[in-house]
Amino acid sequence: MTQRIRKAVFPVAGLGTRFLPATKTVPKEMMPIIDRPLIQYAVDEAIEAGCDTLIFVTNRYKHAVADYFDKAYELEHKLERSGKKAQLDLVRYVLPEGVRAVFVTQAEALGLGHAVLCAKPVVGDEPFAVLLPDDLIWNRDNGALKQMADAAEASKASVIAVEDVPREKTGSYGIVATDAFAHREARIRAIVEKPDPAVAPSNLAVVGRYILNPGIFRLLETLPPGAGGEIQLTDAIAALLAEDAVLAYRFEGKRFDCGTHIGLIEAIVEFALTHDNLGEAARTIMQKALDR
Ligand code: G1P
Repeated sequence: MTQRIRKAVFPVAGLGTRFLPATKTVPKEMMPIIDRPLIQYAVDEAIEAGCDTLIFVTNRYKHAVADYFDKAYELEHKLERSGKKAQLDLVRYVLPEGVRAVFVTQAEALGLGHAVLCAKPVVGDEPFAVLLPDDLIWNRDNGALKQMADAAEASKASVIAVEDVPREKTGSYGIVATDAFAHREARIRAIVEKPDPAVAPSNLAVVGRYILNPGIFRLLETLPPGAGGEIQLTDAIAALLAEDAVLAYRFEGKRFDCGTHIGLIEAIVEFALTHDNLGEAARTIMQKALDR
């Protein structure tokens, strides 16, 4: 790999059953942290890293995601007429100029690896990013994907974000075994999807940011179903290890696992407390609630 990444894939076709009944009509990627949907954080991170083509892998239940990135003529016109410039900019610049959104369909929920494979015709033969919007990773002015894109450009390797998790949680993640870390990076020697804590090669977990060599598509095309009967991205990465360097990257930043109730609550609390306008009021009501 010699290029800077330009394309980012967002697999957003999941059912989001953990957040039912809300997710009956609201895709989980549209769940708000105060007033910005989860997907916006991931999109901003990809754009900050240098991506100008955002590929959403979606399905027939996720029109709200496409609508969100579409132009809202009527609303924009109304806001313009009533002089609401700040609100108008918020609506208009969910995507900055020069960034395009492309939607591809994943007709059947066959797994994360399959979702990534659906993006192949748009990605073509260049390195690309995958961002799982459930994992909100916050690091002001130097997002996790930007850090990883710099590392990928310098090393020409695929790069995967990792974080230590408690050993009893290995069954929820892809888990890696690596060489010794030099600063934030280490070469991955093995990767396994959702191992039982008793057999996990470490407690170093893959979190939802990947920069991948396009060779991954060839591997995904012939991959049999893995854990949970799904086409697993982790299994394709395991095959990639034999032909290409893949680095684990300990990013700087805080991850919120917004695919779980408690992670979503944690993110909302954190963003409320650090919010420019709402922070003080949020602190007061939280303090009151704790004192009761
Ligand atoms: C997916 C991946 C897993 C990774 C996780 C990070 O799992 O398959 O390897 O550790 O995302 O969030 P999921 O959470 O979709 O079950």
